[in-house]
Amino acid sequence: MMVDPSLDRAGPVARSRLAVLVSGTGSNMVALADAIARGEVAADIAVVVSDVAGAPALDRAAERGLATVTVPFDRADRPAWESRLAAEVAAHDVDIVVLAGFMRILSGAFLARWPERVVNVHPSLLPAFRGADAVGDALAAGASVTGVTVHLVDELVDHGPILAQEAVDVSPDDTRDTLLARLHAVEHRLLPHVVDLLARGRVPDLPTPLDRSRPETP
Ligand code: GRF
Repeated sequence: MMVDPSLDRAGPVARSRLAVLVSGTGSNMVALADAIARGEVAADIAVVVSDVAGAPALDRAAERGLATVTVPFDRADRPAWESRLAAEVAAHDVDIVVLAGFMRILSGAFLARWPERVVNVHPSLLPAFRGADAVGDALAAGASVTGVTVHLVDELVDHGPILAQEAVDVSPDDTRDTLLARLHAVEHRLLPHVVDLLARGRVPDLPTPLDRSRPETP
């Protein structure tokens, strides 16, 4: 991972407010909360929002004293659901939206409210293995290397300017569980680090210049 060394000389900064969007177990949300508690991230979690009622992440957030909201996904009226989601995030005066295992695509209307401040973590070296089963897909493909990507979010699935990546070797006897455990360990370090950089108004050196033009097609 490439990091701007001038960040080490940065002075005190205002703390950013985060919304962490989840759908499942919430291990990345927990890792982020723990990193914040250790003083490693210049931000605080203002709210944890789930699109799934009863998601384990909600209990884990509540155990940590974090505000939680559920906005159940409504397939029949997706725009109305997304409007409610945006309203909940905005109501908490959020600067940065962190997708931490959030299994929904967000529209341009949502993303435009937090431009270049919606970030996702994905368990592959994007653009390889986009989608919901990146770990299974990497194993099925016989990949010898996969990894973790943290990227800004656009309207496509697991797509947008890459902020940080870290490779993870795949061993021939890896199972889904063993590989996932190593990927999670990387995610839990990389996501808080990138959120800290964003909170300070800085992003890591990008492997390619930040493309502010229209989203690409896959
Ligand atoms: C992580 O592997 C993340 O990369 C992907 O979804 C998973 C969420 O795990 N987008 P958790 O809910 O944070 O444990």
